[in-house]
Amino acid sequence: MPSSVTPLKPALASTSDRLDLVERPRRNRKSEWARRLVKEHVLTTNDLIWPIFVQEGENLRTPVAAMPGVDRVSIDIAVEEAQRAAALDIPVVAIFPYTDPSLRDATGSEALNAQNLTCRACRAIKAKVPEIGLLTDVALDPYTSHGHDGLLEDGRILNDETVAQLVRQALVQAESGSDIIAPSDMMDGRVGAIRAALDTAGFLDVQIMAYSAKYASAFYGPFREAVGSSGALKGDKRTYQMDYANTDEALREAELDIAEGADMIMVKPGLPYLDIVARLKQSLGRPTFAYQVSGEYAMIMAAAQNGWIDGEKAMIESLTAFKRAGADGILTYFAPRAAEYLRRK
Ligand code: PBG
Repeated sequence: MPSSVTPLKPALASTSDRLDLVERPRRNRKSEWARRLVKEHVLTTNDLIWPIFVQEGENLRTPVAAMPGVDRVSIDIAVEEAQRAAALDIPVVAIFPYTDPSLRDATGSEALNAQNLTCRACRAIKAKVPEIGLLTDVALDPYTSHGHDGLLEDGRILNDETVAQLVRQALVQAESGSDIIAPSDMMDGRVGAIRAALDTAGFLDVQIMAYSAKYASAFYGPFREAVGSSGALKGDKRTYQMDYANTDEALREAELDIAEGADMIMVKPGLPYLDIVARLKQSLGRPTFAYQVSGEYAMIMAAAQNGWIDGEKAMIESLTAFKRAGADGILTYFAPRAAEYLRRK
């Protein structure tokens, strides 16, 4: 050690040397029961929404390579997954379709087909598992040949024409039994247009969970593999999804969605955006959700598979962090595993 550095104080030698501390925060951490007593945030199965990928076929499971433990499933298996979710007290499952490439076109017309995978999955789940909530995503990307969420003209996304299409997509989903319409497209004015159309069609009780603050993010990569849009996507989504450098803009987006009739707002991705979750919850006081997206799931799973972190502990820690930030619930691919963990506890 260089002689100019002051040596650290030696450890206190005896009890008479005891520090005169008024506060000793460690007292409240001294044992399991003491920690439970002062716990501020608790994760329960009520907080979980489980996104499920559906595909054509029967009795089929296709693993999603970048999402270990997640499969695309045929509708009959999706019904079993919904039964499993209901048995685990998970309130809601979210349906995402893997659309056959032959059904994808420039306008995403399959999105409007009442017989598409999403709509058939909704009807099948509603018939067999009526007690579970169903959420459906409104955006064109699983159905377009170019992988964008909206209609394209000369490389530009057309806002208002896209909204007209999304309204029709939302209506076929509501007619198929969707309980929560979740527009994930980030077009301006889509929440108001969808709310008006739902009300006119008599779907007064169908809720809207707006992806209000959805950022253009690298963390969606594995999802695009799961729904088969990654190969198709040309360019990026930065003219409609938000710039991750911004936070005031998230507040504005959420305010607009609420003014247009959103019942619930959502922030996406999740863990890197907990500041946004906290800000929206504190500023607006609305039911606020976060989406722990595919890339976040993949990172935890990949590290766990390498033995670099304890996957189960990281799962629960990350989900509890959402609650701490103020989220009322989390869309997460961990939902069934987290629910099983919580049941064991
Ligand atoms: C569709 C949509 C996406 C996700 C949910 N809905 C992909 C995207 O916007 O490109 C991502 C979910 C995830 O990564 O888990 N618009």
